[in-house]
Amino acid sequence: MKSITVQQPGQLVIEERPMPSPQQGEVRIRVASAGICGSDVHIYRGHNPFAKYPRVIGHEFFGHIDAIGEGVDPSRIGERVVGDPVVSCGHCYPCSVGRPNVCTELQVIGVHRDGGFSEYVTLPAQNAHRVPDSIPDNEATMVEPFTIAANICSQLQPGPLDVALVYGAGPMGLTSIQALRGVYGVKQIVVADRIDERLAMATANGADVVINNSQLDLTNELQKLGIRPTLIIDAACHPAILPEAIGLASPAARIGIMGFSAEPCVISQQAITSKEISIYSSRLNSNRFPQVIAWMTQRQIQPEKLITHQFAFTQVLEAMEIFEKDQKQCCKVLLKF
Ligand code: NAI
Ligand code: MN
Ligand code: ZN
Repeated sequence: MKSITVQQPGQLVIEERPMPSPQQGEVRIRVASAGICGSDVHIYRGHNPFAKYPRVIGHEFFGHIDAIGEGVDPSRIGERVVGDPVVSCGHCYPCSVGRPNVCTELQVIGVHRDGGFSEYVTLPAQNAHRVPDSIPDNEATMVEPFTIAANICSQLQPGPLDVALVYGAGPMGLTSIQALRGVYGVKQIVVADRIDERLAMATANGADVVINNSQLDLTNELQKLGIRPTLIIDAACHPAILPEAIGLASPAARIGIMGFSAEPCVISQQAITSKEISIYSSRLNSNRFPQVIAWMTQRQIQPEKLITHQFAFTQVLEAMEIFEKDQKQCCKVLLKF
């Protein structure tokens, strides 16, 4: 089979690999399509501290089950499925309290073990989630990025009284905006980004107010508009954002962060406690695939709006280059296998 492998930082190749056999409790997926994510680029460029090389990358993948390991129901062969990249032990403390995404023995497919940019991939049977026929292949490939939004929203519990502020209108900001609009029905959504074209996408995906904070001071602009956000999602993940968000937030607000920067940022207890602000973090997803599949089935989100490019997997270098360099036009890039 052909697989897309990062052999070492900076070196990405399509190589011939032996077909994997599903082990006990596993299924094998014949991959049909896969999405490129920022974290694939981080592994490619050597910026992911968890990655081990060589690695088949890719954690957003859709296909059909074509083989099963011992102990798996044979009727699953042929099922259309998406793969949850979170492989967990099932018995540690986080797993026991429904947080397998931070399992003490966490293995992320495409990061810690070989991923979905491959003609075939094996994974635990419970990580392969059936997709109803009403969801087309391309949309099914988008389930994983929406599980990131589902996870942070499960922490923040958005509601109809919320005035939301989303930092960043990349794929992660846009999935969050769609969920806040279509699933949770918040009162108002404000989006800040530094790129006008991305702000235009934010508007197309449900934002009410967009602010280019490379040209305008966000605090001033919100003050002028009389907006005090009650729910803030940081999907831009610069270390300067959390302190600013704490300052901007309404009393009783919730703030969700998902960045991995190791750089410190300065925050004061007074700024947090005086307004009794809650700060949550969110990593990957904790069993959110069924929830997002239901959102898609009920047409609460429009995943197709985020897909801007599509390539044969043999064009992966070109696809990666566009994804990395063209932030103005490019959002989600799919590879077809
Ligand atoms: P992206 O790089 O495509 O989008 C980030 C956007 O933020 C860009 O449009 C950029 O112009 C904007 N931005 C940068 N600095 C800003 C600032 N100071 N204020 C407002 N906007 C600003 O990245 P993507 O794929 O949307 O991911 C966003 C972040 O989420 C990344 O840092 C990524 O590492 C993180 N992430 C975290 C996950 C988790 O599970 N915790 C999962 C996936 C991504
Ligand atoms: Mn992803
Ligand atoms: Zn565990």
